[in-house]
Amino acid sequence: MCACRRQVLGAGVAAALVSLSGRARAEEADPNREARPKPGDQFVFFEGDRQGQVITPADLKLGVTQIQAWPYDPENKVARDGSRLNQMLLIRLDPASLSDDEKPHAADGIVAYSSICTHAGCGVTAWMPQEQLLLCPCHGSEYDPKDLGKAVFGPAPRRLAALPLKISGGVLAAAGGFIGHVGIAPMT
Ligand code: FES
Repeated sequence: MCACRRQVLGAGVAAALVSLSGRARAEEADPNREARPKPGDQFVFFEGDRQGQVITPADLKLGVTQIQAWPYDPENKVARDGSRLNQMLLIRLDPASLSDDEKPHAADGIVAYSSICTHAGCGVTAWMPQEQLLLCPCHGSEYDPKDLGKAVFGPAPRRLAALPLKISGGVLAAAGGFIGHVGIAPMT
């Protein structure tokens, strides 16, 4: 290969890298990624084989453990994954088991919460199927997803922040913003 060809290839690779890093910077700087969920936001899988794919109502099976998710802004086609405070969990429950306070915020038995534990900020990633309670594995706090995420056991000082849901045209989406404080309580 002549020297001039190598120079042209080298310039091409350099331009591609500049373009990629520019795009990465643009994604990092996108304020939609850090914004809290808004009405109309959908949800995408947080991890696993389907990471980044939109979650449908059919993905949520009754009585099965929660799905970890990010809110997804369909208008700008961006997951709101720029802040850990946007980590969500979705779970489908028997609609008849929901408290009167919870019912207006559920969609066909599906409920959504911040997955950040209000004790010390770990992920609420476990499910207790017999008790129908969410569990934080760090220090054992338990939350009731049937009753607006109420803290029912352990050191958590208060409930999980809830996100109202709706299903419209078969699409699962947020019906409002967070109810309650997301994450650990600020020091007073
Ligand atoms: Fe969840 Fe301590 S961080 S119980």
